[in-house]
Formats: sequence, structure tokens, C-alpha cells
Amino acid sequence: MEQQKLLELLQDMSLSEKAEQLLQIGGFYLEKEGVVTGPENLAGYTQEEIEQAGTVLGSIGAEKLKAIQKNYMEKQPHHIPLIFMTDIINGYRTVFPIPLAQGCSFDPELARKGAEIAARESAAAGLHLTFSPMVDLVRDARWGRVMESTGEDTWLNRQFARAVVEGYQGEKTKDGGADLKKKGKIAACVKHYAAYGAPIAGRDYNTVELSERTLRDDYLPSYREAVEAGVAMVMTSFNTLDRIPSSGNKKLMREILREEMGFRGVVISDWAAIEEMLNHGIAADRKEAARLAIEAGVDIDMCTTCYCRNLEQLVQEGVISEALVDEAVLRILELKNRLGLFENPYKDADEQEEKELILCKEHREEARKAAADTFVLLKNEGILPLEKSCGENLSRENSSRENFSQEKGKTVAYIGPHVENRQITGAWSMFAREEDTVSIADALKERGIHAPVARGSAILDNNRTLEALGEALDYQKDAQQAKALLEEAVSVAKEADTVVLAIGEHRVQSGEAASRAQIEVPECQMELFRAVQAVNPNVAVVLFTGRPLDIREISQKAKAVLVVWQPGTEGGNAILNVLYGDVNPSAKLAMSFPWCTGQVPVFYNEMHTGRPYKEGMTDKYLSRYLDIPNKPLYPFGYGLSYTSFEISPVKLSSDTIQKGESLTASVTVKNTGNMSGREVVQLYVQDHAASVARPVRELKGAQKIGLEPGEEKEVVFTITEEMLAFTNIDMEFTSEAGKYSVYIGSSSEADNEGVFELV
Ligand code: NOJ
Repeated sequence: MEQQKLLELLQDMSLSEKAEQLLQIGGFYLEKEGVVTGPENLAGYTQEEIEQAGTVLGSIGAEKLKAIQKNYMEKQPHHIPLIFMTDIINGYRTVFPIPLAQGCSFDPELARKGAEIAARESAAAGLHLTFSPMVDLVRDARWGRVMESTGEDTWLNRQFARAVVEGYQGEKTKDGGADLKKKGKIAACVKHYAAYGAPIAGRDYNTVELSERTLRDDYLPSYREAVEAGVAMVMTSFNTLDRIPSSGNKKLMREILREEMGFRGVVISDWAAIEEMLNHGIAADRKEAARLAIEAGVDIDMCTTCYCRNLEQLVQEGVISEALVDEAVLRILELKNRLGLFENPYKDADEQEEKELILCKEHREEARKAAADTFVLLKNEGILPLEKSCGENLSRENSSRENFSQEKGKTVAYIGPHVENRQITGAWSMFAREEDTVSIADALKERGIHAPVARGSAILDNNRTLEALGEALDYQKDAQQAKALLEEAVSVAKEADTVVLAIGEHRVQSGEAASRAQIEVPECQMELFRAVQAVNPNVAVVLFTGRPLDIREISQKAKAVLVVWQPGTEGGNAILNVLYGDVNPSAKLAMSFPWCTGQVPVFYNEMHTGRPYKEGMTDKYLSRYLDIPNKPLYPFGYGLSYTSFEISPVKLSSDTIQKGESLTASVTVKNTGNMSGREVVQLYVQDHAASVARPVRELKGAQKIGLEPGEEKEVVFTITEEMLAFTNIDMEFTSEAGKYSVYIGSSSEADNEGVFELV
């Protein structure tokens, strides 16, 4: 539809009709399968509100959505179509590893592929927009939603933000945004603007306290990157920032987002976030909350009645102008138009294609490859990769049953409650089905590997809080049964040469509203670990988790630790591919693993202090702990391979750089082991003296390269003067003259240094 027609349509709409366009309701008001992803009973809509709401969240399925759309448009006075939105985070039915795992791949193309597949599957199932990507910077592993982010680094988050937006929407066309009408594409919504990832003490929905400088330098760049990639929608965050809830924060929404970043799309509140301004003590009633939000420039009210019951009155009383409402409605109409819904309200919804695309061979293969590329090998004292019984290739494609009988090789026992667990797709994969997911046990079976298997324990200790949330969970309930499971595991472990111990968090222990104050593997599984390790020291731990955990004891005692996160639909197959060496692990931590919970938040790019501490120092007045090291157990950027790499000293093309110029920093990387592998070569920069304190170092680039045994390659990074910019003492984003160090290596602790000066 032409813009002029949209404006005419807007003019023709009544004020109440406009207010209803701004309402988003849960699909569960319209159909019984609509998912509930927030407090359910806040709203209490009238039938009319349900029938006139402009957008819907949480429903999916081609046949169903077509019927809902048809019915809705018949009743809507101007036959305006609905937009269907939901949370497709790391996949619709073919589920990729969780975003934090994807971050560890250091390969944004992997995430782009995941987003493309998610878009294709969900578009065929009738969806128009996903509430993704979540690009919040995270530094506190207690916060359950770290699983949804790509980690603790600004530069890395930016790469993923762009790749994911482009994966869903397609790249921007010359004349502006991406072509959202295109088949198999859906609109993206970046969230949660702003700084939702920094709640005090890691408790979800808690206050955020950040200086404007930290906000600008560390937190805002990834939202900005998404905006520059053309993201169609932005979601407000629940938290306050500088004591103002985002959904009523004019400076954030109008000044920074729209004016500075140039965002032209739709802003949606998070679930009930407008109404929650009452709880924040910012609004006396819903009417005031509605005024604050519309004035701040929030277009859609997700799941409350604030807008639909108050905007009309606010206009009639002259408190706000109708133009303010019009502005919001127009943006929604424009999005509907960009999606092509006025001409084709069902977009790509197609039952036949839905069937063909969902979980098709190609999608599964990509999910499997992606998962293997996100596993981080933290420790390996020579027990991985596992020996194949006949030296045959164990990858799924080449599997042939005879090759995997264990008689000829060493016995590997598979122990732990995660061996058979299929709930390994992460907290946000609401549409994934267990029967479609491949556990380790399924993968063993499929390959014809007859390994001894024992469950050993439940996943969760007897945790009343989780139980109260009504989930059907795997608890350690009965002491007798627990003892029997443990005994069985110990006897299986005794007989084996090697034990693969699959332990870790339950799916519900991370995600929204899943903060933890003790970020450890549940005690019942630690008991299993201790008992197994006591009878068989050859333990390779396969760790399932949605966040970095305190794994000190595991890391000390196990011979190998492979973090597999929540690996998605093809998890089991990917795990076997890595365990048996068909895929050489290449991922690096996108978030530091702390020494213990008390060390959290711990992240590599902290500021210099006035009393820096280095390991081994004994003076008293230093910035340190008395009882633990300052360094995390495993730092950002760290991860092993089955092969080894050597990195040559840093070579700089010049030892000075001028305003507007650049230099190159290069190294030669050699595979010194006897297996082909990939290394993530990382570039860090440190600013020695500036007008404000600067991080000890910052990631400015990373390249993932593949090398055959003995092969070497030169890796060249360009460092531009612009890359050195930060928010200076006068709040200007600029670089400053002075000395800089460059570190290139295989983790954030690389000490391979070069020095240059900005003159
Ligand atoms: C609340 C979450 O914070 C947000 O990420 C999600 O998109 C909405 N609920 C809708 O499910």
C-alpha cells in the first residue's frame, strides 16, 4: 500500500480503534495452544478488546493463524490485518544451541544461518515477527537470561546482533530497510532496550545502575548495531536505568534510540512493562503509566489495558495530543505494510510448506554442525577424543552399525541424568518437541554403539521453589531410589575404561525468571560425580548448562571437561561427533567461568583500579580477595582444541597511527599438533592513559581460521583510529592521543604484545 493510502486509512480510524491497534494480546485469548510467557491474569480484556487488538503474541501454526487472521479482519472496521509475533529465539522446531553457546562459536555466520532457518520454518507456520535477537551485554552469571545473550563482550555482541537481524529479515536494500515481504523472511525485534542484562546482584527484573559512559560504551553498541542492520522493532526492558523504567524513559526512547541512532521502526513494551510502572512507583495509575509510555514513544502495549483503556480519554482531556497516538499507530500500520499484510494477510503461512520445512534434513544438519561448533573444551588430559572401536568414522552420515560395537575397543560408559535427557533445547524453545530432539542415548543408539549407560541421579535436588512453579521436573525425591541409581552408576563406572559423565543444569534453571545465587551443578549430580570419579579417574565431563557455573571441583578432578550448553535438537549427535573427534572443538568462552559465585560479576574487560593486583603479589593494600584469586577459573575467549597452535609475535605495520588512519597487526598461526583444527585468533587493545579510566583491554576483532597439521597462515587485523574511540571526559565519542598495546592470541589472557602510539 502506498504511504498516502496508509495516511488516509489512519485519518479514517476512530480514536478508540487507534488505541486498540496499539494493544497486543496473548494468543491464548484466541486459541488454546497460545504460549504464556509472562504473568497471565493481569489484563482481563473485554471481548471487544480481544477482537480489536492490533497484534498478537505467542501463537503459531499455519492453519490456525490463517483462521485467526481471517476472522479478525472480518470484524476489524477497516479490515486491517494482525501481526503475529512470538519468541523464536534459537529456533522454531529445528532448534539451534542457545544464544550464549552461539556466541562461543565466535562465528556470527553460524547465528545467521540459525536465524535464516528459524525464519523459514516459522514464516511457513504463519509468523510475521520474532522477539529476537536479545543483545543485552551480560556480566553476571547469576542472571538466568545470560543463556539468551551472546556474552560479556561488546564487540562480539555487535557481530551477532547484526548477523541475527540480517538472518531473519535479510540484508537491507539500497532504499532503506530489508524487504520483509520476501518469502521465508520475518521481522526482527531487538531487545531489551536498554541494559536489561545488568540487574543488580543478577536478580531478574532488578534495578540497573550504570554510568551513562558505561551505558554508551559497553551496553548501547549492540542495540545500535541491530538498528543499523535495519531491525524492524525494538523492545523496552523491564528495568529502571538511572531510576527510570525504560518504558517511560523519553531520553532512552526518543533522544538516544530515535534521534541518535536514527531508529524509524516500532517500539514495543515488554510484557506488562507499561503497567509495571505502577510497581516501580513511577505512575500512580494506569492512565499515568499510559501517558508516560506514549510520551516516551512506546508504540505497542504488550499485555495490559493501559493504552486501550486510557489513551482516548487522555486525548479527550487534552493531556496528550492525538498526534502522539497517530504517530504510534502509523508506525504499526507501516510495519504491517512492510510485511505486505494489506495485500497478503497470511504472508507465508502454508500448511504444506510448514510440513516440508520443519525439521527437514538440511535444517537438522545445520543444527548439528552449529551445535558442535559451540562446545567449549575447557580441559583435556589426553582422554578426548575417544578412541573409535575400529578406527572408523563415527559421524552420522557414515555410521554403519558393525563399526561401533565396543568389543574391539575400550569400553566407554555413558553415565549421568543428561545422557537420556531430551530437554536440551534451552528455556526459550517453547515450540520444540522432545520427540524431535536427539539425546546422547538416542545418538548412541542410532550409531549402533552399545555402550553401558546409567542414569546415576536425578537432574535436580529436591528444590521446592521450582516445584512450586508447577513444572514436571526431574527431582531427587526418594532416598532409596537415589541410592540405587548411584550404586548402579558406580558399578558401571568400575567396569569401564573411560566414563563420559553427562551432568549439569536443568533446562528450567536458566532463562527468564531463573536467577540463581549458587551457580553450581545440583548437589545430587555432584554426589554422582564424586562417586564415579572415586572408582574411575578417567572421567570426561560433558557439561549441560545455560550459564557459566562454578565448576572448580569438577575441573580439578575430571580428566576432561566439555561444555555443551543446551545444544538444541541435534545435541546428542553433535556431542558424539565431538567426543569421537569427527569434529575438533573450536569454540571459546563468550562469558567467563567464575572461580566461585562470590567472584561474580567477573569479566575480562574490567577497568584498571588504583591498586592493581597481579598473581603472587603479597602486599596488603591491593584490589584483591583474601580467599580466592582475582581471575576467573576460565576466562573469556578461552577454549581448547584436540590439536595445538602456535602464534608468532605480533608484527605492527607501524608504531604510530594518526587521526583517520589505520595500521595492521599480524601474526602467523601454526597448527603444531597432528589433527586439523580451527583457532579463534583474537585481537585485544589496551589504552594506556586517557581522560577517563579505560578497560584493562578490549576485544577489537577475532578471526576463526582452519589449519591442517603443520600448516601455517598469516592473520592480519586492521586497527583503525576509530576503533580506539570511547566516551571521553567531555562525553564525546572520540579517540585520544597516547600509547596503546595490542595483544593477539587465543584468549583474553594473551600476552603476545605490540605497542603503538596514536599521534
Ligand atoms: C518477556 C520477555 O522479557 C521478553 O524477552 C519476551 O519477548 C516477552 N516476554 C514475550 O514473550
